[in-house]
Amino acid sequence: MSITIHAYDSQENIGSVVASMIGAIVKKKPNAAIGVATGSSPLCVYKALESEVQNGLDVSQVQWYALDEYIGLSRSHPQSYYQFLKCYLVDPLGIAECNLHVPQGTVEGCQDNAKRYEDEVINAGIDLQILGIGENGHIGFNEPGTSFLSKTHCGTLTESTRHANARFFENEIGEVPYSCITQGLSTIMHARAVRLIATGRTKSRAIHDAVQGQISEKCPASILQMHSDVVFLLDRDAGSEL
Ligand code: GLP
Repeated sequence: MSITIHAYDSQENIGSVVASMIGAIVKKKPNAAIGVATGSSPLCVYKALESEVQNGLDVSQVQWYALDEYIGLSRSHPQSYYQFLKCYLVDPLGIAECNLHVPQGTVEGCQDNAKRYEDEVINAGIDLQILGIGENGHIGFNEPGTSFLSKTHCGTLTESTRHANARFFENEIGEVPYSCITQGLSTIMHARAVRLIATGRTKSRAIHDAVQGQISEKCPASILQMHSDVVFLLDRDAGSEL
């Protein structure tokens, strides 16, 4: 098995390709389970989905499952992933909030929250998982060294990820949480199809390692080499080291 690479000239094109793929799934299965990522990479998909909905796609029964959440931010915090998905997905598409599923990022009961979310995601059966990738090859918040067998769990963010994400916290590194709850690598591998989006030169090394490197826990995304339906949608810069 190997990872299929598709190269695009713009994020808009990536967004419309993935959105129409989601549209095709939803037309066949109105209550499909779609795995959604946060970060800047998937925004083009959510934007393009808005057009699909304006053109008549009915997403009222679709269930949306987040990959991860920061621990220690309330759901109403503007940088919580709950708010991110509410702002860029739920509100623009007119989705009922009860159809958005995000792991609870509370400090207390983290293990219980993780177990509950793992069961929820596995029972739902993700039809298509959208992914971004961290500069160090992380997917979800599975940092380098995370076991390929991991299920949804609570983890610690690396300093490099905290620094990369500080831009969402007005570059105040002290404001970036230290820990997270995330679907594990084995959880992500359960998705029927995976579409990973990466743009920009800062992602080119991670893309190289994920696609052409050894399958190793040093690069979490390299686990996707063992998935039977995975496509990376890249711009020229992100694919420049392949
Ligand atoms: C965060 C998220 C990941 C995301 C990554 C890259 O760490 N937990 O799911 O893929 O950021 O984000 P961006 O697309 O903004 O580069």
